[in-house]
Amino acid sequence: MKQLELLYEGKSKLIYATDSAERVVVRFKDDATAFYNIKRAKIENKGKMNCTISSQILAFLNANGVDTHFVEQVDQTSQLCKVVEHMPFEVIVRNIIAGSMARRLGIEEGVIPENTIFDLCLKDEELGDPLINDHHAVALGIATYEELVKIYEISARVNKLLTELYASVGIRLVDFKIEFGRATDGALVLADELTPDTCRIWDAETGERMDKDRFRRDLGRVGETYQEVAHRICNALNK
Ligand code: TMP
Ligand code: ASP
Repeated sequence: MKQLELLYEGKSKLIYATDSAERVVVRFKDDATAFYNIKRAKIENKGKMNCTISSQILAFLNANGVDTHFVEQVDQTSQLCKVVEHMPFEVIVRNIIAGSMARRLGIEEGVIPENTIFDLCLKDEELGDPLINDHHAVALGIATYEELVKIYEISARVNKLLTELYASVGIRLVDFKIEFGRATDGALVLADELTPDTCRIWDAETGERMDKDRFRRDLGRVGETYQEVAHRICNALNK
């Protein structure tokens, strides 16, 4: 597969065309951004670490019956992925209350709810990625009710698989964000990345944050912590 022209540059990734109409190359950058680009930095080797973590996790999901856009890792910072039409919303799955939900509802971070919480957010940075519900998504024409049922089923399955995977390496999966797309054959697939940039993960023993909150909240040792996550995930999945 030959990498061709740059199609799109995002905050943390570059997307290149290939000589196949059904494949793109996704390259992970070292850039870290938060709060809609207000906070910015380069974290040495983040591209490599996130590419490795996301490749390992997406391959694990593919192998466990969750269809994703991931085909294979091509080098240290790039993945070959299916071309997808991205659905313009994010699904956030929460096992432990933290972040915006803690702030918005005045709940202390760390509280464990009785049920798993699924949020839907419209991907629209100018509007601040607002929280929406199923009816909004259908009214906006971005998903059907039938697709939403499947999306929540897949999100719950991803949550179960990732919670178990992280638990096996001494990490609590607090919350995470996933995105979906439609592949060229019309199939609904999990798209985008699954990395410490897109989840909250806390060390099970020490409670130490091992995710992008280290960057958002100036907790230090961002790169070292991502390296530790990559190390634990690779060890668990390459046995
Ligand atoms: P939140 O607490 O800001 O709502 O975020 C919940 C989880 O979703 C957290 O793990 C970070 C992740 N997330 C993203 O990856 N991208 C986003 O744009 C947002 C809003 C959250
Ligand atoms: N939506 C957030 C941002 O603007 C993402 C995050 O903080 O992870 O960067």
